[in-house]
Formats: sequence, C-alpha cells, structure tokens
Amino acid sequence: MKVFPNYSLLHLNTFGIDTSALYFSEIDTEEGFLEMLEEKKYKDIPKLILGGGSNLLFTKAKLEYLVLKNNIPGIRKIREDQDHVYICAGAGENWHGLVQYCIAHNYGGIENLSLIPGNTGAGPMQNIGAYGVELKDTFYELEALHIHDKRKDIFNAEQCRFGYRESVFKKELKGQYIITSVTLRLDKKPKFNTAYGAIGQELDKMGIKELSLEAIGKAVCNIRTSKLPDPAQIGNAGSFFKNPEITVQKFQTLLTRFPSMVNYPLANGNVKLAAGWLIEQCGWKGKSAGNAGVHSLQALVLVNNGKARGEEIYNLSQQVLDSVQEKFDILLEREVNII
Ligand code: FAD
Ligand code: EPU
Repeated sequence: MKVFPNYSLLHLNTFGIDTSALYFSEIDTEEGFLEMLEEKKYKDIPKLILGGGSNLLFTKAKLEYLVLKNNIPGIRKIREDQDHVYICAGAGENWHGLVQYCIAHNYGGIENLSLIPGNTGAGPMQNIGAYGVELKDTFYELEALHIHDKRKDIFNAEQCRFGYRESVFKKELKGQYIITSVTLRLDKKPKFNTAYGAIGQELDKMGIKELSLEAIGKAVCNIRTSKLPDPAQIGNAGSFFKNPEITVQKFQTLLTRFPSMVNYPLANGNVKLAAGWLIEQCGWKGKSAGNAGVHSLQALVLVNNGKARGEEIYNLSQQVLDSVQEKFDILLEREVNII
C-alpha cells in the first residue's frame, strides 16, 4: 500500500478546490483497509474516506487527515427470487456505472437515479435521491468497517435510518465507518416511475411510445444535463443546500406574501419548499462573489468560477443562507459535507 504525504486533492473533488492531504492512499480491498487501520504511524491521525469527491467542500488549504480513497470494485448478483435480484456492488464502483449495469440487465429500481456523480459507497451516506426515487427504495443492506474497532458490521435499511439526504452515517455514526459494499434489491419485472413531471415531458419530447428502463434513464440524463453544470466544465457539488420543510401554518403565512412560492405538500402534513426558488428570489441566481458563484440556471448549485478557495465558496453559502433567512425566516441547511 502506497501512502503519499502532502498529496494534492485538486483533481479528486468536483468543486475543483486546491487542497492537500497530510497523507493519502487509494485502497481497493477490505483487507487493504484493515491493514491501513493497523498501521501504527497513522493510528492517531483522523481518517477521511473519499469516494468520487462530488459532495464535499474542502475549506482548508491543508487537511490534517489520512485521506483514504475507497476504490473497492465489483458488481455481482448474490441471489434472486421470483420477483427480485440482489446486486452487491463494491463501494468504489461508479454509481452511474452501476445504474447502467442494472438497466442493461433489466433490473428495475435505480434508473431514475441515473447520472448522479460519485461512487456507490457514498450513496447511503445521504440516501441519494432524484426524480421521485431515493436509494432507500431499493436498498437491502451494506457492509462497513468500524474505523476504530476494525470490526465488520452489516446495516439493514432500518439501521441506516434513512431520511431526506440523511442517514445514521451523517449523524450519530459520522466519521466512524468505512462502507465497503452496498446491496440493492431490484425488480425483475420493473415498475416504471414517471410521476416526476419533467420525466413524462422529456419522454414525450424523445418520442418514446413504449416505456423501458433505458428510456427512463435516458430521459433523466437529458433533464439533468440541461440544468445541472458538468463538474468537468465548472466546479460544483450539485445542490449545495437541502430543500427546507416547514409547517403548513408557516407556509400559509408566507404564501400571503409570496403567492408564487414553489411548494410540495408532504404526507406528514408539512410542506417542502424549493430552495432554488427561495435563493433566486433573493437575487442570487447567476451572481458571483469573487471566484465563487451561484449557478445561472440552478440557484441551488454553488460553483467555482475558476480558482476559488473552499473558504470563498463557504462564505458565499453563508451569505445566501443569511439572505434567505432574512427574507423568508427560513434557515437553509447545507447538503454538501464541509471538511
Ligand atoms: P464523496 O463526495 O467522496 O463523499 C461524500 C461523503 O461521504 C463524505 O463525507 C465522505 O467522507 C463520505 N464517504 C464517501 N465514501 C464513503 C465510504 N465508502 N464509506 C464511508 N464514508 C464515505 N446527490 C443526490 O442525492 N442527488 C442528486 O441528484 C445529485 N446530483 C448531483 C449533481 C452534481 C453535478 C454533483 C456534482 C453532485 C450531485 N449530487 C447529488 C451529490 C453527490 O453526487 C452524491 O452525494 C454522491 O453520492 C457523492 O458520492 P461521492 O463518491 O462523490 O462521495
Ligand atoms: N427553482 C427555481 N429557481 C432555481 C432553481 C429551481 O425557481 O434557480 C424551482 C423551480 O420551480 C423548479 C423547482 O425549484 O421547478 C425544483 O427544481 P429542480 O427540479 O431543479 O429540483 P431541486 O429541488 O432544485 C432536487 C434535488 C436534486 C435532484 C432534483 C431532481 C435537493 C437538495 N436537490 O433539486 O439533487 O437532482 O431535485 O429530483 O433535494 C443534489 O442533491 O445534489 C441534487 C442535485
């Protein structure tokens, strides 16, 4: 196992932030992780597990971490029954690659999650979601190594405590585990999910007469590429904030002042608002503060206009947060992991 001191992470985070790790190593087996955790030299150094680097913002010029990039490969069918297949993927597998594998084999359930950047192992961290589907809908279980006790644990969906862009790994167990594999339970007779309005419109535009996993996957890719900036062109980490949930009473009060407020009623009686709309109403869309900016097509996405430092992006996020709080009395929560 090669360990590099003072290693640049510039090309390992989609925000394109130039920061360096005290130590860095890439690991592609569970044994490799265990060996690394046994190393006396690195015992007292905090560990940061890295996937595709598409949901973090590095705010310091130097990270006092041993950064371990999880490259564990492999996609295999572990069992099947009449209606389902159980697919286990190594944490280092590219997520969209896994989606394409499932579409190609006609295994249904994750096609709406096409083109989400990053690796499979990070999926459960925030219960990735898009276009009416979340990881939790097909999640079966995951395997993870406890960083301190070096013990292998298995978590089922309930133990992961999934919520909207949330899991136990972002809360109580934050920083404690290395997810090594994820198993999904997929449908052999796919049920197509086109409830999210934009998908139906895109399928019509594509002239699709007969639904298929492939068509839905393609429709989702088309929608995503039309509004989300490609990190290869402009640094970003997708939605920077979560969409806030408020009580119906607060919603009614706000609606009298902002009748066009974009909203989604929830089953629990609360209302979810579109943070992108709130931010746009505060005048931020397309605005920049130095090298940090708010994307011109999607106000929920903060971007690196060039050589932004993580701190600049963070400061802009604070300004956005403050103005939304001032105008709407709503405190946005960051989705991106701040390191
Ligand atoms: P990283 O950014 O490397 O890591 C994210 C967090 O997970 C970090 O805290 C890291 O320490 C931890 N982590 C990573 N791997 C492991 C592991 N194996 N074990 C333990 N901890 C780990 N997200 C959505 O949910 N829906 C979207 O539609 C969506 N769209 C996006 C669009 C764009 C253009 C971009 C850039 C991002 C988008 N995201 C979206 C966010 C991001 O793609 C997901 O959060 C993704 O799951 C992050 O994967 P990653 O491998 O890049 O994780
Ligand atoms: N909107 C605006 N102005 C903007 C952006 C959005 O008014 O600048 C309004 C529009 O009315 C639009 C609505 O907000 O109809 C919702 O926008 P969009 O469909 O683009 O979705 P979103 O709420 O901004 C969420 C997720 C995305 C996910 C999409 C599709 C969060 C935080 N974001 O974005 O996830 O891909 O829905 O399901 O929940 C991510 O998590 O990184 C991410 C990209």
